[in-house]
Amino acid sequence: MAENIYPIYDRMMTRQDKEALLRQHGMLVWFTGLSGSGKSTVAMGVERELHSRGILCRILDGDNIRAGINNNLGFSADDRRENIRRIAEVGRLFVQTGIVTLACFVSPTEELRQMAAEIVGREDFLEVYVSTPLEECERRDVKGLYARARRGEVKDFTGVSAPFEAPREPALSIDTSRLSLEESVRAVVELITNHNKEILK
Ligand code: ADX
Repeated sequence: MAENIYPIYDRMMTRQDKEALLRQHGMLVWFTGLSGSGKSTVAMGVERELHSRGILCRILDGDNIRAGINNNLGFSADDRRENIRRIAEVGRLFVQTGIVTLACFVSPTEELRQMAAEIVGREDFLEVYVSTPLEECERRDVKGLYARARRGEVKDFTGVSAPFEAPREPALSIDTSRLSLEESVRAVVELITNHNKEILK
């Protein structure tokens, strides 16, 4: 009889093994919205709240992705697609490890967000639209990029000289010019815990 060359102890541990270890379920919350809309700020509040409840989270945003793994990409349509593709693949790895993953990217088109959902897996994917109006994002102009885009110094800037398509059917919309940070965080935490009641230990 042929020798079993794949004994059980040689196999990778499964997602279920990891979720049992962590006593939580992996999922990906995809925040989309204009630059300065509040995606990362809300995600940080959500992470802090879930962390305090014993849930392990991971934020993916421009600071840790465009500065590192995607530091060779700009803002052409092709580069944005590759940006989102890699982020979704990385997000999938975290989700498969049982981690609640919060991805904060402009991701300006329905096509890009659909691609991300396909890569991650639709059952593990929740879309949150941070719908703060352009006027408010531009008024905040945290990074001074809107002013530079208006002067023509930054090209293809989303909302100014490149398009943003609002999501058709987001799981949740939050406008941070109307809601306080606490209210926005609470709405997302409720969305996550309602989506998967077993997420809490
Ligand atoms: S995405 O379109 O590819 O999803 P991503 O979220 O990674 O964009 O990066 C957007 C951030 O990059 C913005 O918040 C802004 O700080 C900066 N940025 C620099 N140039 C641009 C540009 N042309 N369009 C949009 N954002 C830009």
